Amino acid sequence: MWGLPLAMSSRTFSLITAVTSDWGIGYKNGLPWPTLKEDLKFLRTKTTSTKDPQKLNATIVGRNTWNAVPPNMRPLPRRFTVVLSSQSKEAFPGAHLVCRSLGEAVESLSSPPLAEQIESIFILGGYGVYDEALRSPLCDKVYITHVEKQFPVDAYFPVQTFHDEGFKQISDEGTSSQSIEENGIKYRFVVYKK
Ligand SMILES: NC(=O)c1ccc[n+]([C@@H]2O[C@H](COP(=O)([O-])OP(=O)(O)OC[C@H]3O[C@@H](n4cnc5c(N)ncnc54)[C@H](OP(=O)(O)O)[C@@H]3O)[C@@H](O)[C@H]2O)c1
Repeated sequence: MWGLPLAMSSRTFSLITAVTSDWGIGYKNGLPWPTLKEDLKFLRTKTTSTKDPQKLNATIVGRNTWNAVPPNMRPLPRRFTVVLSSQSKEAFPGAHLVCRSLGEAVESLSSPPLAEQIESIFILGGYGVYDEALRSPLCDKVYITHVEKQFPVDAYFPVQTFHDEGFKQISDEGTSSQSIEENGIKYRFVVYKK
């Protein structure tokens, strides 16, 4: 697998994903489903909310996930964005930081000067980033939007690792588990912890 193991001095992080009923996350470097406004709002609210108004949250994405966001919309506003790639920073104009491994990224975000500026860390995918994150003891909550429908997909959530690591559903006071329906597509937000 990629890079160095995560140092235990690093801070914890959460993971956010949305999956189809057969754990698909992407298709042709986009999302498999048509726009789901409440899900986008959920992602925006979770990843931008901070207790300290002086701080920002950080998001960590793989190269393909960065490229899946239209150039005029990246980096996502009000989030410190880290891209994981073996390519150099010049390949990702607008990214705040480019790292070669999740361990390097979390270590940088846990050390001065970034540690003082960043409140929480969110892993936003895709497959390899999720897989490394799920295996880490630093992985705290996993927020999964379960889209209760199948779509054509070519990128998946690492569901085997998710099950092997023993994640269990929890009730989370900041997350409604009510089912939502948009354009005939039902989905719900579920939170898990190891
Ligand atoms: N439904 C969702 O919640 C969701 C979330 C995110 C993405 N997506 C979708 O998923 C698809 C993209 O995901 P993907 O799995 O194909 O690609 P990805 O993980 O975004 O990008 C893969 C690349 O990122 C780098 N990388 C990945 N994991 C790494 C790690 N642990 N350490 C270091 N570098 C790492 C490598 O870049 P180099 O080759 O440059 O070294 C790798 O080739 C798109 O369709 C996107 O829309 C969906």
